[in-house]
Amino acid sequence: MQSWFTDAKLGIFLHWGVYAVRGIPESWSFYNGEITYENYMKQLDGFTASAYDPDAWARLFKAAGARYAVLTAKHHDGVALWDTAHSDLSVVKRSPAARDLVGPYADALRAHDLKVGLYFSHLDWSHPDYPFHTSEQFHAGPVVEDPEAWERFLTFHRGQLTELVESYAPDLLWFDGDWERPEELWRMAELRDRLMAMKSDLVVNSRLLGHGDYATPEQGAPITPPDGPWELCYTINDSWGYQARDHDHKPLSILIRTFVETISGGGNLLLDVGPREDGTIVPEQESRLRALGAWIGRNEPAVFGTIRGIPAGHVYAPTTLSTDRRTLYVFCYDPPRDSVTITGLASKVRRITALGSGEELTHRRFGGFDPVPGVLAIDAPSVADPQVTVLAVELDGEIELYRGEGRG
Ligand code: GLC
Repeated sequence: MQSWFTDAKLGIFLHWGVYAVRGIPESWSFYNGEITYENYMKQLDGFTASAYDPDAWARLFKAAGARYAVLTAKHHDGVALWDTAHSDLSVVKRSPAARDLVGPYADALRAHDLKVGLYFSHLDWSHPDYPFHTSEQFHAGPVVEDPEAWERFLTFHRGQLTELVESYAPDLLWFDGDWERPEELWRMAELRDRLMAMKSDLVVNSRLLGHGDYATPEQGAPITPPDGPWELCYTINDSWGYQARDHDHKPLSILIRTFVETISGGGNLLLDVGPREDGTIVPEQESRLRALGAWIGRNEPAVFGTIRGIPAGHVYAPTTLSTDRRTLYVFCYDPPRDSVTITGLASKVRRITALGSGEELTHRRFGGFDPVPGVLAIDAPSVADPQVTVLAVELDGEIELYRGEGRG
């Protein structure tokens, strides 16, 4: 696992494709029969990328505090955003955009020191050699396998991936769509080896039937975080791609809390935006990215250079720890009123400050009965962050917790 990934904390997911023309669900709309395949693909005629400005994207993601982004190079609909030699089905050959959209994205990200991620769907609901194109077909009953067609499909699948790795040298490949067929058919172990042989520092997500580098919970931070590396993918409104009728944008407080719960469990947040067909990002999403970035900016030490926090129960707030384990960061959702209390903290405290204001906070220990440490009560700061207020508890050495059952 590359350390840039576990240190990144925030990435931006981009679902950009022909589905933005009508503003309908990406790929699933024809798969589930909401629109015919023909009408879905007519959206190619309206996909212009006319205001595509990847440098503006990269500047926005930087301002959001992100360290990487992941763009849908190809979603389940099979429409490639690059000039693939393996199929005609690309916005380069079939839409008025008529140019490669992946290369400029990768270049712009790199110019702003952001890592480059590409989303790629294994399954392809357009390819003639892929056995299912609709939910109806998938649920119709046992499939009569056509081994030759499947081998042709795998050659195509591997061919497109080779193009992506060779042309754009992505830092991360974000796979999806592995659920319709088993490992015996996909041979993901072999695919993984092949990709690593091309680029040994490549990071791959879990959607490789067990051969990935990290777990990908979707749409909700796990209550018990996975032990290994993980990343929560999460939409700002209720849609991955652009949908004009979806105004259900989450308030900033929910986005910040979700981010906090993710990093306190040792994960990254991959926050999704759905650009319009012209490449612009709607103001409701842009403003939230900027506001999240402003909060991260005020509280940077609690975000970057940290690892997952202490187990729940010691303090009724999410926490992170500095990588040297000498500072505990406590995330207070509402402005603390009286005191913030921490139980079972065996370490001596050197100093406690509120991030942002830098105000030093007085604190006291109450009670305790060796080996049970007394409760640490931190006086509320006089100024709270308009969103989540972070307290930095600097310790005398690496954190020591008391987790026993007490004496008596
Ligand atoms: C869901 C959606 C899919 C999207 C993915 C991202 O599986 O159905 O369209 O690309 O989430 O994780």
